[in-house]
Amino acid sequence: MLQWRSPVSNSFIPGRLDSVRQIVTYRIFRATFCQGGVQAEEGRGRAGLTWSVFFSTVYLSVVCSGILSFGRRLMVKCKRLKLLIISGSPRPGGNTEDCAEFLAGCLKGYEGVIAEHLRLRDRDIRPCTGCRKCMQLMRCAVAGDDMPALLEKIASCEGLVLAAPVYWDAPPGMMKDFIDRTHGLYARPQPYAGKKGWLVSVATESGFATHERVLSGWFSHYGAEILRKVRIFACEKGDAMASASARDTLQALAGEIALAS
Ligand SMILES: Cc1cc2nc3c(=O)[nH]c(=O)nc-3n(C[C@H](O)[C@H](O)[C@H](O)COP(=O)(O)O)c2cc1C
Repeated sequence: MLQWRSPVSNSFIPGRLDSVRQIVTYRIFRATFCQGGVQAEEGRGRAGLTWSVFFSTVYLSVVCSGILSFGRRLMVKCKRLKLLIISGSPRPGGNTEDCAEFLAGCLKGYEGVIAEHLRLRDRDIRPCTGCRKCMQLMRCAVAGDDMPALLEKIASCEGLVLAAPVYWDAPPGMMKDFIDRTHGLYARPQPYAGKKGWLVSVATESGFATHERVLSGWFSHYGAEILRKVRIFACEKGDAMASASARDTLQALAGEIALAS
């Protein structure tokens, strides 16, 4: 049981301060006035009161700034951009995967983004059979593979990075299979409206424009907005990460993604 010493009469006011709000109010009141009251009795009068007002002001500003910074941190956490990086190269440990991993690593430095890298070669994605049943079903009729889980992941993210090598001026077959299989969404109006997209394309020297047209055409057809397309020049394994300009490009992309969050 806490007892409240009155600053005015110097007598004890018995009372049970059993709620947090009461205790906090009590402490602030005591810090503000009681010290001054006691000191006034001891003959220090106005000076004591001034000091206690000063200290309680400092105390209150520290508490308030603590609450504000906690609120700010909470807001950043709640506002985090959920980003999915999909890499679509059949070559394990190749340039595309290196770029995707490097980008995910850079993004770890930004509080506002939570990034996940997913490799299409780890997933079972069967090709579209062209049955067109999806037009009635509003979903793909091909069943029993990882495509539904992948679509759920995409639906729950706010940002998507598509990373793929250029194969004959276009994305490789596995990336194209993935795109084709999203035809189940075709009958729905703009299922990816509000999502943001970025492209990372890797090639030895040429074919970027047609390749990018397939990827950005797919994503923007579903209502997403493509914010940037970056091109990485690399041929053999390790070329991309050995290039300072490629690393700089990806680092800058990470910064842009963080700004978009
Ligand atoms: C089947 C195939 C087709 C390719 N077509 C092109 C092309 O059109 N233009 C180009 O510049 N590089 C082309 N390349 C080279 C790749 O884009 C390059 O090696 C890239 O670094 C591969 O990325 P990865 O290591 O992530 O698999 C091709 C490679 C393969 C295997």
